[in-house]
Amino acid sequence: MTSISRRPLFGGNWKMHKVAAEAEAYCRELPGLVSDALGEVVIFPSPTLLPTTSAGLAGSPIAVGGQDLHPEPAGAHTGDVSATQLVDAGCSWVLCGHSERRRDHGETDAQVAAKAQAAVAAGLTPLICIGESEGERESGRALEVLERQLSGSLAERPEPFALAYEPVWAIGTGKTATPEIAQETHAFLREALADLIGEPAAASKRILYGGSVNPKNAASLFAKPDIDGFLVGGASLDPSQFSAIIRSCGS
Ligand code: 13P
Repeated sequence: MTSISRRPLFGGNWKMHKVAAEAEAYCRELPGLVSDALGEVVIFPSPTLLPTTSAGLAGSPIAVGGQDLHPEPAGAHTGDVSATQLVDAGCSWVLCGHSERRRDHGETDAQVAAKAQAAVAAGLTPLICIGESEGERESGRALEVLERQLSGSLAERPEPFALAYEPVWAIGTGKTATPEIAQETHAFLREALADLIGEPAAASKRILYGGSVNPKNAASLFAKPDIDGFLVGGASLDPSQFSAIIRSCGS
């Protein structure tokens, strides 16, 4: 596939962690630690922390995103958050289809596709997450599962979007994919993307790796040609760890 330079992207997914005072302290620290880093940085806090995080990062190049959204623009959906509400809270990104949403809330690829489309319609960029389970990888079905998740989640052809490959067996386990497995999978995903959206568009898409990324393993993963950045969970909670990951990928 044509080689093209893609701007590295680093997402910090805080999951269900932090309260406002902790978010404020984090936002005072992170910008200075990544000011000379290469690439784009986005923090994904819980909905209650979005206004605090957006205000705390205002004036810095660090963006803010939601962790999920409802596909409808508004309505009777208790406990959910709409794309418009995310924009109103200062977001420019949103995660769609994280494996913990698929696991905890039974999200299907069709729902992920609808969410990604709703995000784009409101001016947000969806970071669409896919990943196979340990059993699927061990039984040799990982690529087949990923191809199905990819085509299902992109069924509405959102544009723009970025992709995150997060093998479920690597999330929060300390078991990172080796750079070789991650590269092989990312290259496969880029080929599969080319079949869906055409080769030039696929060549320009950022594909992030996620799953137990830390300051020690980031550089060897990032050295692979189809790994364009990371979606970091646990290690993104600490500004010095998260910035060390980002800085290990170039400054
Ligand atoms: P960990 O980095 O904690 O493994 O989490 C990865 C993840 O799920 C990011 O979305």
